[in-house]
Amino acid sequence: MAVETVSMDQIVSLSRRRGFVFPSSEIYGGLGSTYDYGHYGVLLKNNIKARWFEAMILERDDMVALDSAVILHPRVWEASGHVEGFSDPLVDCRTCKLRFRADKLEDSQCGRKPSKHPGETPECDLTEPRQFNLMFETTVGPVQEEGSRAYLRPETAQGIFINFKNVLQIARRRPPFGIAQIGKSFRNEITPGNFLFRVREFEQMEMEFFVPPEESERWYRYWIDERLNWYLRYGLRQSRLRVREHGPEERSHYSQGTSDLEYLYPIGWSELEGVANRGDFDLTRHTEFSTTKLEYVGPDGERYVPHVIEPAVSVERIIVAMLVDAYDEEVVGERERTVLRFHPQIAPVSAAILPLIAKHDGLVSKARSLYEELRKRHSVEYDDNGAIGRRYRRQDEIGTPWAFTIDEQTLSDDTVTVRDRDSLAQERLPIGSVRGWLDDALERDWKTPKAD
Ligand code: GAP
Repeated sequence: MAVETVSMDQIVSLSRRRGFVFPSSEIYGGLGSTYDYGHYGVLLKNNIKARWFEAMILERDDMVALDSAVILHPRVWEASGHVEGFSDPLVDCRTCKLRFRADKLEDSQCGRKPSKHPGETPECDLTEPRQFNLMFETTVGPVQEEGSRAYLRPETAQGIFINFKNVLQIARRRPPFGIAQIGKSFRNEITPGNFLFRVREFEQMEMEFFVPPEESERWYRYWIDERLNWYLRYGLRQSRLRVREHGPEERSHYSQGTSDLEYLYPIGWSELEGVANRGDFDLTRHTEFSTTKLEYVGPDGERYVPHVIEPAVSVERIIVAMLVDAYDEEVVGERERTVLRFHPQIAPVSAAILPLIAKHDGLVSKARSLYEELRKRHSVEYDDNGAIGRRYRRQDEIGTPWAFTIDEQTLSDDTVTVRDRDSLAQERLPIGSVRGWLDDALERDWKTPKAD
């Protein structure tokens, strides 16, 4: 029987057991809500970023890529509104010394009595709320002095806005066009948690799409659909995805319209990605603060400040959604197996090459040469360690879609067995066709076998 729901604990435990994600600085006791990625975590992350990059840039004519700096001129964050407004209200408890978000007390636990919320017991002694800026501060240059203060970027978006003129002139673009980038962002979250869902250091994938003002509503709707379709294309179940439009009171200061693409995480429906109609807020503010005019001037003299549509997401939130969606347990024969049913283009390893008997020179040599051939183009793994059933289960747990097994029949007719992770079906293929078979299989449409 397949699992219908999965807990965050099951995801955390598998991620750790199979070396996807480790708590960071563990030998020093850990540093709350920071994580390090192990081998399979890195491969998974790289695949998610590559699929985003393909869909957002390589498959389009109206997009360019950018990689801007993490530390920008501090005035950038004054113009963007982050110095003044990027803050959460927090309260301290004088009794238990814990700190809470004032607007999220009902989601928090009292430090002394975890069954209660902060402020609910007679011993709770909460301070008045005060605003806490979420940007990490640092110092540029060798001495800490007036004017040396800078910030680690809390979003990659501002790096895009301040390069608007460069792209317009040098890449010779005219709206509608977009600038996309992937990079680390940092936020000193007061209440991080839920594994990778809310962390202090994360990798954002953001795109700013510059459009003529009168077209902004149409492009806003277009990007909501595009991004939703991207998740469906890479296997997330439709029943676990929804679009939630923000009411006017919920929107950020820059937004003329925002929709969250939400996923049904184990913590409930929560924001996976945001799509915002930012209007002309950013280009206008940077024009004002930098005195450099950020506008589009057409060949016939028409000029306007483009409006901006922004889909923004972190790789971390996608990883959690994809792990949750892919996680499955079932009993096969007498045995239980845990399997990650990733889309084949998302799976960290595309195929495993397994000689049936590890000490058989003939099988090992055939298996090694197939492995050497496949690894030139694909992420593949060679494994001759342990019983074949155990090796299959190890691959299932990291989500490898196919395993090629080299057995004694290979020596007589040059065929191998291919085993499918999801159906467990096995078929024989000529060893010479494996490379082409794998190329084709990776390109095929894929739908999760998990129930909706
Ligand atoms: N440029 C707009 C912007 O940054 P946001 O809603 O604050 O908007 C965009 O963040 C996306 O970044 C979110 O939808 C989420 O995917 C991700 N994100 C934000 N804070 C995060 C955190 N602390 N940990 C992990 N991901 C985060």
